[in-house]
Amino acid sequence: MDVVRKFLIASVFWAVVAFLVGVYLALELSWPSLNFGLSFLNFGRLRPVHTSAAIFAFGGSALFAKSFYVVQRTCRARLFGGEALANFVFWGYQFFIVMAALSYVMGYSQGQEYAEPEWHIDLFLTVVWVAYGVAYIGTVLKREEPHIYVANWFYMTFILTIAVLHIGNNIALPVSIYAAKSYSAYAGVQNALIQWWYGHNAVGFFLTVPFLGMMYYFIPKQAGRPIYSYRLSIVHFWSLTFMYIWAGPHHLHYTALPDWTQTLGAVFSVMLWMPSWGGMINGLMTLSGAWDKLRTDPALRFSVAAVGFYGMSTFEGPMMSIREVNALAHYTDWVIGHVHSGALGWVAFISFGATYYLVPLLWNRARLYSTRLVSWHFWIATLGIVFYITSMWVAGIMEGLMWRAYDQFGFLQYSFAEAVNAVHPYFVIRMLGGVLFLIGALIMVYNLIMTVYSPTTEVSVTERRDAALPAGAALAGE
Ligand code: HEM
Ligand code: HEM
Repeated sequence: MDVVRKFLIASVFWAVVAFLVGVYLALELSWPSLNFGLSFLNFGRLRPVHTSAAIFAFGGSALFAKSFYVVQRTCRARLFGGEALANFVFWGYQFFIVMAALSYVMGYSQGQEYAEPEWHIDLFLTVVWVAYGVAYIGTVLKREEPHIYVANWFYMTFILTIAVLHIGNNIALPVSIYAAKSYSAYAGVQNALIQWWYGHNAVGFFLTVPFLGMMYYFIPKQAGRPIYSYRLSIVHFWSLTFMYIWAGPHHLHYTALPDWTQTLGAVFSVMLWMPSWGGMINGLMTLSGAWDKLRTDPALRFSVAAVGFYGMSTFEGPMMSIREVNALAHYTDWVIGHVHSGALGWVAFISFGATYYLVPLLWNRARLYSTRLVSWHFWIATLGIVFYITSMWVAGIMEGLMWRAYDQFGFLQYSFAEAVNAVHPYFVIRMLGGVLFLIGALIMVYNLIMTVYSPTTEVSVTERRDAALPAGAALAGE
């Protein structure tokens, strides 16, 4: 469990970094002179620092922590490869994050969103990822529990698919063995298609599938009941995995990509609505008969609200992938609003819920230092999300409508600068939303530190709490 603790600390640390850089970007978008003319504070260089810190550093570390915890608990086995392999995965992954971030601020980039690191960093990550896969799958193979609980299927798909995507999208020819510069193996529209096959599935298999693994383990644990329908979770798993992989072309509507490919992407995206909501219903219905726990356990509130946001963004996404809707939404801040309802509401909230559950267990404390502070965190962060996404919806739809407005002579009614000016107040509101979200995270940091520094319990809390629902089969209600 040492590696779980390390990854948990890293995820909380990177969360604060990612949110801080996000707030700074929001400030720069409101007042561009805040880059002070310094290249490393430039929006273009800091943006990938934010996206990578949020997705790969915060989200990734949270996933490593929780997946390593879940696999050991549900398989009743210690990690394959022992401490040495686990430590290699931990330090290797942290090294990758630092290398990537430094390279962005220094101006090195492949110029492909969410795949910015240059080839040598990519190669290093591949080695770390394979080590992660070996540790995880090795543990599943040596399990003592005959059943493989569904959360593990989600985590294993995450590991496998991210490996395929990472390698597939990053095939490139370095300019020289020393240069941090390479050219992609794909050109033109093929490059765009591969990039968005990767980009959308980064959303699907990094920001969604493994966080669903988190949902399937931690919500039953927090609610103290088995998953609502184990059969539905299996249908959910296979249908989601099968459909996600085709949806990438919805990022390339009205481009040089063949029409049929765009339609295929849109159709699969609309179909994705069904498994997504199936999963949401399964998560929410697990609380049947335990809804009263929401009043007393604010950590569970985070997890349940996360599932609600998941439902919301997976309704919005399929809608935005319909070509006519995308014609309005694309390039506007509506997309940014969609991203953050998923990122803040789903990814961050489900991670916070699981973190609040895990910290007392892993440090053997009776309870969290303060559930009141968890409640404060919940409400402040929720208010922050509401500020963020509603301002971006208004700004985005307004931008879309202004860009397509014609006057009576058939000329564009507004210049681009007028549209930028019109969204300025909403950018300021988004920034305030980000500040609230950051304040919430700082409250969490304080609460967790105080929990770790509170006296230890005599009885192992892990054993006491897990007694009700010990391992995979019990979680599945079997
Ligand atoms: C059924 C589920 C979903 C579908 C069909 C979907 C669809 C879409 C569509 C159509 C876009 C806009 C593309 C554009 O016009 O440029 C988009 C953007 C995006 N979505 Fe979703 N979405 C879904 C769920 C989610 C979730 C749950 C998250 C986050 C956890 C998310 C994160 C993103 C991101 C990061 C982008 C921006 C990509 C970029 O341009 O950089 N999506 N999505
Ligand atoms: C305090 C919280 C946050 C703030 C203030 C914030 C702010 C921002 C800003 C200002 C941008 C640039 C928007 C633009 O280019 O117009 C951005 C982009 C992005 N952020 Fe965040 N962010 C926050 C948290 C997060 C989290 C937790 C995640 C993921 C888990 C995330 C993922 C992303 C992604 C994927 C993009 C790129 C979207 C796209 O290209 O369409 N953010 N964020």
